[in-house]
Amino acid sequence: MSVDNAHRPVLGIDLGTTFSCIARWDGKGPSVYPLAGGKRTLPSVVYYDEKNKDYLVGDIAVKWGLINPENAVFGVKRMMDNKNEQIKLGDQTFSPVDISQKILEKLMTDVRNKFPEGVFKPEGVVVTVPYYFKAHQCRNTEEAAQNANINVLGILQEPIAAALAYMMQLEHDNQLANRSETFLVFDLGGGTFDITVFELTITDDLIRFEVLSTGGDDRLGGLDFDNVIKDHIVKEQNLGDDFVIPDNLGEDDNKKKTTEVKKAVQSLLEAGKIAKEELSAMDTAFIAIPHVFPGKNVDMELSLDKMNELLDPYVKKIRDIIDATIARSGKRADEVSIVIKVGGSSQLKVMHQLLSDFFGESKVYGDVNPCECVAQGASIYAAIQDGRLEIGKEIEIQTRTSHALGVEVEDGIFHEIIPANSEAPCDGWEIFGTDGDNVTELEIDVYQGSSAFVKDNSKVGTVHVSGLLQRPAGELDIKVTFKVSDQQIVSVIVEEEESGIKKVEKMQVA
Ligand SMILES: Nc1ncnc2c1ncn2[C@@H]1O[C@H](COP(=O)(O)OP(=O)(O)OP(=O)(O)O)[C@@H](O)[C@H]1O
Ligand SMILES: [Mg+2]
Repeated sequence: MSVDNAHRPVLGIDLGTTFSCIARWDGKGPSVYPLAGGKRTLPSVVYYDEKNKDYLVGDIAVKWGLINPENAVFGVKRMMDNKNEQIKLGDQTFSPVDISQKILEKLMTDVRNKFPEGVFKPEGVVVTVPYYFKAHQCRNTEEAAQNANINVLGILQEPIAAALAYMMQLEHDNQLANRSETFLVFDLGGGTFDITVFELTITDDLIRFEVLSTGGDDRLGGLDFDNVIKDHIVKEQNLGDDFVIPDNLGEDDNKKKTTEVKKAVQSLLEAGKIAKEELSAMDTAFIAIPHVFPGKNVDMELSLDKMNELLDPYVKKIRDIIDATIARSGKRADEVSIVIKVGGSSQLKVMHQLLSDFFGESKVYGDVNPCECVAQGASIYAAIQDGRLEIGKEIEIQTRTSHALGVEVEDGIFHEIIPANSEAPCDGWEIFGTDGDNVTELEIDVYQGSSAFVKDNSKVGTVHVSGLLQRPAGELDIKVTFKVSDQQIVSVIVEEEESGIKKVEKMQVA
C-alpha cells in the first residue's frame, strides 16, 4: 500500500521556548517545511492586535512586540506549568495553552497554505516537550495541540527526538552497523539546558536506545544570555537611571514611562541577541539602537572575549551539570563516542569549546542541524507510530522516570515510591495504614517531583477507594503499588486484603 507523504503526511513539531519548527516524514527521511517568509523556524512569539482583533505569530509578532510590549508574549513554554496563568495582552487575557495553540495553528497554517485548498490532510502530528516536563505540562501541550485541531499521534521528549534524527542520519550515511555506543545529546536552546546520555545498541533486527541519565536546568538558555548582555549594555552606556520610574509621576506619565522602559528592555534584549548570534561567526559585534530612550542611542562594540566573560558563570554551571550527568550514567567522559549538539545556543563558540575540551574535538558531531533536528526526530517518531518507517529493524526506546513518583501521606508530606531516574518499566510498593478510626473511604493523591512536600511537586491524579472495613486507625494494611510502563504510564494499584479491595488506575506521567 502506498502512502501519500506529501498530502497525507505525518508531522513532527518542535514547540520551542523561543523558536518552533515543523517537519514531515517524506518516505525516506525527515524534511523541514520552510514557513511563510522562507525561514525554517518560527519565533514562538504571539502578539495580540487589539484594533483588528487579530493574532500575529512569529517574526511579525517580535516586531510589533518592540512597539507594544504589553501586547506580546515571549517564552510561553516556561509558563506551561500553570494552565491557569493569566497572560494579559492588551484588553484580553489568555492562558499558556491558548498561546501555545496560536503558535501551533500558525505552523499548520503556513504549511497548509503551500497547497491548494483541501489537499493537505495530515494524518497526525507528534509534538515534542522537554525531558523534565511533568505529566500535567505534557497534558497542557497536548491540549493546546488538540485545540489547534491537530490529531496528536504522540508527545515525545526532545532528546529522544534528537536521538532519532541522529539514527536517521546514520542510516542515510550507511552507518547503521551492528554495535553498541554511548552518545550524548547536549541541548542548549532559548529557555532550557538539557543533557541526556544514551546507550545505542544496534543488532541485525533491533535498534535500541536506552536513556542512561539525564540532567539540565529548565531556566538556563539563550534568553538568560540575552539578559546578561542587556545588563552589560546598560552598564556600558550608563542607562541605569533611565530605567527608574519616579514615584511622583501622575497616572498618564507613569504609564508612558512604564511603556518606555518596557520598549527599551525589548530593544536591548533583541540587540543583545543579534550581537550574541553574530559572535558565533565573528570576533566583534556592533550594537546600535537609535532612541533607546528619548534622546539616547546605544552605540558600542561587544567582543567575543567580553561576551565569553559575561557567559562564564553559565558555562561553569553547564560544565558541572555535564559532569554530574555523566557520573550518574555510570560511564566516563572518554566512553562517550559522539556528542550531538542541539539547540540554537549550542552554536556559541564557547559551548563548542567546552564540549571539545570535555570530550575531544572529534567527538562533537556536526551532521545534524541543531535547530531542526528535534522537529525532524518528531516526524520520524510520527512515522514509527504510523507504521511508515521501513528500516528493517525494530526500534526500541528505553526511558527512565524523569521525576520521583509517590503519594501524599499525613499533612502534605510526599512519600516516594519510585525514585527519579528509574529505568522504565519499573515498579515499587508500600504499605500504609488508615490514620483515623473506622475510615471506609480514602483519596490517594499521586504526585511526581523532587520535594519532600507535595505542594512543591505536581499532582498526577487521585485514586478513590471505598468499601474499607471499619477498623481502628492503623489496623488495615493498604498496599499501594506503582507500575510504570515503558510508555511512562503509571498503573496505581490499591489493595486491602481484609476488605477484599483491589483498585487499579492508570495515569500518564510524561
Ligand atoms: N548562531 C547562534 N549563536 C548563538 N546563539 C544562537 C544562534 N542561533 C540561535 N541562537 C540562540 O538560540 C536560542 C534558540 O534556540 P532554540 O531554537 O534551539 O531554542 P528553543 O527550542 O526555542 O528552546 P527550548 O529548547 O529551550 O525550548 C535563542 O536564544 C537564540 O538567540
Ligand atoms: Mg528546543
